[in-house]
Amino acid sequence: MLTNSPTEMMYFAGRQIHIKRDDLLHADFSGNKARKFYHFLINDFPGVSHIVGSGSAQANSLYSLSVLAKIKGWQLDYYVSHIAGYVKQQANSPSGNKSNYSQAIKNGANVIEIDWASNLFNACQHLDDAMNVLKQDYLRKDNVHETLFIPEGGRCEYARTGIYILGKEILNWAVAKSINKLSIFLPSGTGTTALYLQEYFVTQTQKTSFDIEVLTCSTVGGDSYLIKQFYELSSNTSYHPQIVNDGNKYHFGKLYLSLFQLWQQVLNSTGIEFDLLYDPIGLNVLKHTIESGMSNDREILYIHQGGLLGNATMLPRYLRKQALTHL
Ligand SMILES: Cc1ncc(COP(=O)(O)O)c(C=O)c1O
Repeated sequence: MLTNSPTEMMYFAGRQIHIKRDDLLHADFSGNKARKFYHFLINDFPGVSHIVGSGSAQANSLYSLSVLAKIKGWQLDYYVSHIAGYVKQQANSPSGNKSNYSQAIKNGANVIEIDWASNLFNACQHLDDAMNVLKQDYLRKDNVHETLFIPEGGRCEYARTGIYILGKEILNWAVAKSINKLSIFLPSGTGTTALYLQEYFVTQTQKTSFDIEVLTCSTVGGDSYLIKQFYELSSNTSYHPQIVNDGNKYHFGKLYLSLFQLWQQVLNSTGIEFDLLYDPIGLNVLKHTIESGMSNDREILYIHQGGLLGNATMLPRYLRKQALTHL
């Protein structure tokens, strides 16, 4: 269950590349989150009745956590800084009914906006600070041992279990295809998936003839922010993936029409729908990397990390912006 996604080929930026279709892992629990939350799915947590998570109301981690909670019979409390007006509005429209937010609510998630005016959060600037305060609050309650806390975006050690399985699948595939020089590319948010993958290949292929490297790019806060995130997971820099960029610093969730055009081109030429938050940046940086001649002598594998439910919110925003610029 939730493993062994297929690998396909696609023509991209003038060459053939391989695509690991983690988006096909499961209809409700696909891609990045299927890997990161695998640990929680396959293990028993006796006594646990609640999970507490946090992040954006549009995030697919909200939806995936709601699916996990439903499968496990847990109550999910998911904290957000703010729910954007269009997300709330969309939840009542036919296309919005498919969004991460509305599907999570359907699955029984409690999506809670932080009350920043409350004295409790006086000293807090970010969602992470507020979560630390709330965690203490939960811990003070009697039923502490019944609650599992999951950091934003699944950035935690538990993610290693499922990401190592992804690494093993890629290694088995590379062996079957006699590929020993491979660049794996995936866009990062927290950097957790890329880092644990790199860790897997460093630890599992040393002293072998395999030369497998993990390349990634930042979609949140630029390269220096991503490096900081890597250090939070591991101080061993040999486990830090190589960060590549196309000369731009991107802001998460912002609309970039030129990247949307690339996303549309890929959809039209391959029939593969990628996510609209991470992949337009990932595909553009990969295109730039290929065009700069890097990885010329290597096979390239791009990981499709799912997240397609978020497109129900992103696609109408992009189409509206595109229509406005054509007026
Ligand atoms: C579709 C998709 N791609 C990429 C990422 C980034 O993963 P990470 O936070 O492990 O870097 C995510 C994370 O939520 C995702 O949902």
